[in-house]
Amino acid sequence: MRTFDEVWNDKMLTGIGNIDEHHRVLVRLLVDAYNAVELGTPPERVRPIVSELVSYTKYHFAAEERLMVEKKYPDLLEHRLAHRWFSGQVDGIFLKVSSRDPATSLELFKLLRDWLIDHILKLDKRMSYHVLRTA
Ligand SMILES: [Fe+2]
Repeated sequence: MRTFDEVWNDKMLTGIGNIDEHHRVLVRLLVDAYNAVELGTPPERVRPIVSELVSYTKYHFAAEERLMVEKKYPDLLEHRLAHRWFSGQVDGIFLKVSSRDPATSLELFKLLRDWLIDHILKLDKRMSYHVLRTA
């Protein structure tokens, strides 16, 4: 079990206000989901967290991708493919937790949490340098 403050690191700040706020929400949802599964919370109570994760992920990625289009970011395609992968994983978890066999894997939430942190530190920060330079 790890708290939000143990997972969040200010090195993850991009300097783009709304994007940083979105990232905090996403990390918090992944921490909540991980902790809920670890504590053996019934799947019907994990499902709303995953549902929120699905919709917030789409909302956030769309906002980032709009920004990249607007700023003519040259690595948009690579970045978009990374987003598609993560979205697909989150959609898959939602299907699983909504199925007749709703047990979800703690390892998968850990993988997604670590993936997101790595994505923010690498791809999102690289994008933010471009965005802030062309502001
Ligand atoms: Fe991103």
